[in-house]
Parts: sequence; C-alpha cells; structure tokens
Amino acid sequence: MRFLLFVFIAILSLEAKGPDVRPVDNELYKKECATCHYGYQPGLLPTQSWEFIMQNLENHYGSDASIDDETNKSILSYLLANASQNAMNYKRSAKITNSLENGVLYKSITEIPYHIKKHRKIEKWMITQKEVKTLSNCTACHKKADQGIYGDDSVNIPNYGVWRD
Ligand code: HEC
Ligand code: HEC
Repeated sequence: MRFLLFVFIAILSLEAKGPDVRPVDNELYKKECATCHYGYQPGLLPTQSWEFIMQNLENHYGSDASIDDETNKSILSYLLANASQNAMNYKRSAKITNSLENGVLYKSITEIPYHIKKHRKIEKWMITQKEVKTLSNCTACHKKADQGIYGDDSVNIPNYGVWRD
C-alpha cells in the first residue's frame, strides 16, 4: 500500500514538471533554422538577441544563413512572440530573462549569464571532445532538449555519463 502511494506521488510530481522552455512548434522555423544545428527554442533568448540574429543572417557565426525577406519576417515574428521575456511562465525562460544585464546585447545563448552560470562546473574536455565540440551543441548532452527539457536528470555527457553535481 505504502509503495503504491509512493508510485502515485512520483507520477504526480513528474507530471507537474512541465518543459523548461516552450518546445518549437513552428514548421517554417524547423525548416530554416534546424538544419545546420538543433532548433534552439525561442524562449532561450530575449527579443533583442533574436532581432540581432535575424538582421545578420548573412554573417551568422561564420556561416551564411540568409533567407528571403518574407521568410525572415515570418520567423522573426514567431521568435519575438515566444522570446524569453514573453514566455515567463516557463521556468528557464524566466531565469534567463532575470539574469540579463540592462543594456547588454547578447549575441548568442552561450553569452547569457544564466547559461554561463549553469555550465560553469563542466570540465573543458567534456565540451571540446569530438562528440560535443561546442557548448552550442545542446543535444549532445541534453537528451530531451527537443522537448524543451533541460533538467540535470536528462543530462548525459558523452564519455562521462549522467551528471553528478
Ligand atoms: C548554414 C547553416 C546555418 C543555418 C541555416 C542556421 N544556422 Fe544558426 N548557427 C550556425 C552555426 C555554424 C552556428 C555556430 C554554433 C555551432 O557551431 O553550432 C550557429 C549558431 C546559432 C545560434 C547561437 C547558438 C548558441 O550556442 O548560442 C543561434 C541562436 C542560431 N544559430 C539561430 C539560428 C536561426 C534563428 C536560424 C534560422 C534563421 C539559423 N540559426 C540557421 C549555422 C546555421
Ligand atoms: C557538455 C554538455 C552540455 C552541453 C553541450 C550543454 N549543456 Fe546545458 N547543462 C549541462 C549540465 C551538466 C547541466 C547541469 C548543471 C547543474 O545543474 O549543475 C546543464 C544545465 C542546463 C540548464 C539548467 C537546467 C536546470 O534544471 O538547472 C539549461 C537551461 C541548459 N543546460 C541549457 C542548455 C542549452 C540551451 C544548451 C545549448 C545552447 C546547453 N545547455 C548545452 C551540460 C551541457
């Protein structure tokens, strides 16, 4: 009996734990922005960052990712509507927003103070190894990232394993 109660509570608490950020649900975004890399959720960055990124696609982290104006407009409006400040009901989007310093333009997720703080304990080799390469490669470690889930119980670092703090 006590065991059943335990299972019941465990299931309840799992369900109460929704995604950390809102999962991507825009087909155009998936098509244009999730081919070279994983489709980063809009709620991982504030509006100013998305505006900057979408205005500079021909010069995109050393790649040319330019698209026509109409596609750009449509994707930008999706990104802005779901950017971190506009998704404060999602736990990580709220933490990201609250970590921003006034007047700073963050040009990538990896520059966001909350992101830096959360990844500061990871050893360098875990990132530079060939299975990961860069901290931008979220899905190498976050096994449920595409569902918007980033909690440490879904982290599995190649050649290291589950995260132990
Ligand atoms: C031609 C390939 C290509 C396309 C298409 C592309 N990107 Fe990228 N993007 C890159 C590269 C290369 C990087 C650098 C990070 C890396 O090495 O994975 C990057 C990085 C990023 C980052 C920063 C990630 C971080 O860790 O901070 C964001 C945000 C981003 N891209 C958004 C977009 C959006 C939005 C689109 C669609 C409009 C898009 N990308 C389309 C190649 C591309
Ligand atoms: C090398 C592996 C690795 C990569 C790559 C990586 N992360 Fe993480 N991330 C971790 C680990 C480990 C933690 C847990 C840190 C802790 O809780 O102490 C974490 C924590 C987080 C958290 C906080 C979750 C929580 O519940 O506290 C978020 C959000 C997150 N990562 C997002 C990202 C995003 C977005 C990317 C890609 C731009 C990324 N991570 C890339 C390993 C990684």
